[in-house]
Amino acid sequence: MSPAEEIKTKLDIVEVLREYIQVKAVGANFQALCPFHREKSPSFVISPDKQIWHCFGCGKGGDVLSFVQEMEGLSFPDTLRLLAPKAGVILKYESKQEYSKRGRILDCLQVAAKQGQYWLENDDTGKKMKTYLLKRGLSEETLKEWQVGYNPDAWTAMLEYLRSQKFKDEEIFAAGLAGRSDRGSAYDRFRDRITFPIKDVSGNVIAFTARINPEKEKTIPGGKYINSPQTEVYDKSRVLFALDKAKKAIKERGFAIVVEGQMDAIACHQHGFSNTVASSGTALTAEQLLLLKRFTNNLALSFDMDNAGQLAADRGIREAMAQDINLKVILLSKEYKDPDQCLQSNPDDFKQAVINSRPVMEYYFDKIIAGKDLTKLADKKEVVKLMLTMIMKLANKIDQEFWFKRLAESTGVSEQILRESVVVSKPTSRQVAQKAEIKPPTAAETTINRDERLSDILLAILLKAPDYIPYAASHLEPRDLLLENLSQFYKNLIIYYNKFAVLDYDAFRLYLQEQDDKSINIIDRLALLAERDYYDYDDNGLKSELSKVLLELKKFSLKRQIKTLQNQIGAAEAGSDKTDLNNLMTDIKNLTEQLNSLRSL
Ligand code: UTP
Ligand code: MN
Repeated sequence: MSPAEEIKTKLDIVEVLREYIQVKAVGANFQALCPFHREKSPSFVISPDKQIWHCFGCGKGGDVLSFVQEMEGLSFPDTLRLLAPKAGVILKYESKQEYSKRGRILDCLQVAAKQGQYWLENDDTGKKMKTYLLKRGLSEETLKEWQVGYNPDAWTAMLEYLRSQKFKDEEIFAAGLAGRSDRGSAYDRFRDRITFPIKDVSGNVIAFTARINPEKEKTIPGGKYINSPQTEVYDKSRVLFALDKAKKAIKERGFAIVVEGQMDAIACHQHGFSNTVASSGTALTAEQLLLLKRFTNNLALSFDMDNAGQLAADRGIREAMAQDINLKVILLSKEYKDPDQCLQSNPDDFKQAVINSRPVMEYYFDKIIAGKDLTKLADKKEVVKLMLTMIMKLANKIDQEFWFKRLAESTGVSEQILRESVVVSKPTSRQVAQKAEIKPPTAAETTINRDERLSDILLAILLKAPDYIPYAASHLEPRDLLLENLSQFYKNLIIYYNKFAVLDYDAFRLYLQEQDDKSINIIDRLALLAERDYYDYDDNGLKSELSKVLLELKKFSLKRQIKTLQNQIGAAEAGSDKTDLNNLMTDIKNLTEQLNSLRSL
């Protein structure tokens, strides 16, 4: 057995996927919102029996390995390496190639994090930094848990240490730990800074963020924090600080707290708000939101957003609204600059603020009408204008409806007028996307799509109820199916069943594989289609569905054949061969009769 197979047999697909997405049992299977595309109702199906998954929305599917690979954005060897410990499998042999460059970079970063911890304890300035951190309220335990470190005030201390640990310069650069001066000499990137490892969702160190030595905060120019550059393992728009530690609590508590600073996130965790992540001082990106969506659809933001304009302009908030995420705002009293300060002075205040967090639209609305006199026309118009831009960003029609009503009540402008005044405003990006999805198919596409859909249903039902294969075969031949791969699949299904008189899913799968049948890649999709759409059908229900589908497909096939013959007749008439023409006429007559007699099966 290959390591990949061994890992697959030892892991349960549902348990593994649960770590990434919320799954719900439906019949013998599980459903979820697909993490690979945006959707509101679940079209992602997992079969524990077959240990496979498929999304009927975006068409992706596969096994536990491909899911984790896609989700984590890893190479196949790295996926095995990630899952092997979970499965209790020891990867005995790793080829040079498999032990990829990525692996070396991750190792290098991990070693750098450990060394940073060492310097925080043992370097003279490091010790001062530790005292500073402790004074800021972080506990010894917290410092260890977050691998907080320090890099000495020297140009090449880290470089030399990493070299001594057998890392090549190119690896150290690839890890983003060193920079190069104009004259070409290498230097440590985070000299004389407190370092915080940034980890991916599985807890690998992929980058650092580093705070300036507070003693030099006033004198040294440049940022208070600097971060690793983009590297092969670090894409800052796809990472959320602390998500690896927060993901479990986010699921358990049903929401995530999002703060701006790393220090805020660490302080939150230390005070028990372990469902906190940090955006690292920038607006949330679409990718970060998708990442969070794997764990929850409810976010409470603790951002510094004093005025409504700031909030409306925030790209992250707009994106979250477009993704139909429930957004709340945590309001701290003015005396606190950020959550960290609030927690240091009075943790209960933060707790209350979280409890009292308010839906973003309510907060925004209050901000907008504060200080306005709605009996004045100019104020009224201003409020309506600002609110409408925000309402139109809501992805959910029900939310929009609610806010149209609310706005109408507060301003005395009728709902109809409000709605009319947005017709001219630009659609949101999501609305554009939805439009694009339902663009009408061309005539050719329509027939193919319909035929494909019906063929899918036919084959799905037969996989679920193989006893009906002979019945189907007696009414519909493989060549009646328009699409080559589905037709081929149907043919194999019939041959296999005729030979063995049963259909064992795994055995049939193997059989297709041995045939080197290209339709192998559709079997999982078809099997799950049946599980999703027909899991609660009894035998009679399935049979009647099957008859309908067979009838439709047969009609399609006959019509196609007649059409082909008609074209041939056109060609034959132009020529001289009369017998040919006669044969064609007879054929058409037969087919037409068949078609007309097809009322039901
Ligand atoms: P703040 O300036 O609010 O810093 O920036 P802070 O988190 O309160 O830091 P302390 O408490 O003084 O240590 C908030 C976040 O913005 C990003 C960092 O992620 C920071 O945590 N930031 C800030 C930078 O990336 N660069 C900077 O120069 C400043
Ligand atoms: Mn702070």
